[in-house]
Amino acid sequence: MKVHHADITTAMRTPADSPSGQEPSSEVNGASSGDAGRESRLVVELKGIRKSFGSVEVLHGVDLEVHAGEHVVIFGPSGSGKSTLLRTINLLEEPNAGSVRVLGVEYGPGVPGERVEKRGGPLQLRRHVGMVFQQFNLFPHLSALHNIALALRSVRGLGRRAAEEKAAHSLRQVGLLRFAAHYPGELSGGQQQRVAIARALSLDPEVMLFDEPTSALDPELVGEVLAVMRVLAESGMTMVIVTHELNFAREIGDFNVFMDEGLVVESGPRGFFESCSNARTRQFMEAVL
Ligand SMILES: Nc1ncnc2c1ncn2[C@@H]1O[C@H](COP(=O)(O)OP(=O)(O)OP(=O)(O)O)[C@@H](O)[C@H]1O
Ligand SMILES: [Mg+2]
Repeated sequence: MKVHHADITTAMRTPADSPSGQEPSSEVNGASSGDAGRESRLVVELKGIRKSFGSVEVLHGVDLEVHAGEHVVIFGPSGSGKSTLLRTINLLEEPNAGSVRVLGVEYGPGVPGERVEKRGGPLQLRRHVGMVFQQFNLFPHLSALHNIALALRSVRGLGRRAAEEKAAHSLRQVGLLRFAAHYPGELSGGQQQRVAIARALSLDPEVMLFDEPTSALDPELVGEVLAVMRVLAESGMTMVIVTHELNFAREIGDFNVFMDEGLVVESGPRGFFESCSNARTRQFMEAVL
């Protein structure tokens, strides 16, 4: 099933965002959340990921698969290695051991004894993987539009005009076109995070990673960011989300991963929040939910 990116626009747009009344026509490839199954195309495959900082190992051999159109949710206590694992997917952290495969290309050290057909570098990888951080990471001296256009010019090599047009389109997708000329300091935290999502989205990633995208926000601003993510999920975008918003995780998670102390303790499909059986998982859920 193909779903129009316009869906996200429809849900988030305010009337002022669409003076022409025209709907964007680009389409997203991939399964909708409804038919995303574990049998569909593998987008991300992590195997045996180990990561140390100095002499301290913080990931002790983690496996993770993310299929096209799937929404994988990762949760667990502070310091369990969620961010480190997520950052390994686009090599913001280089693993000491293990395989990081994105769309079949190997970017990590690999698994001993396993044949590697194609190997790629970080820049190639980051063309496929978008990332949204807790702290937005927008440039304060650039407007919302220019934050996005800069990414398009440097990562995609677009000219100024094409970059600005695409940036405007992305801002419209998150309902913020009328804030295009605003600087981050003139936007609320929720709006800044929506700009950061638009920036990642504008690069047409195959998968988007979110590291606690709402934890730096005042509670009343969380909803608008989750609404954008929800619509993005419904459009069929492949997503990996680290979050403490367990109700949102329960709603959106096609596959759920509980981490503790640098390991995946337990994982499972929809219904995981009710069916998980590991004592540590249950204890965490009871404390947080
Ligand atoms: N750059 C770094 N240098 C040294 N240690 C680090 C670094 N980044 C993370 N760590 C350590 O690695 C472990 C895992 O950290 P990580 O940030 O991945 O945890 P987390 O599950 O994301 O926690 P939180 O929920 O607080 O964000 C922690 O013990 C942390 O102190
Ligand atoms: Mg973290």
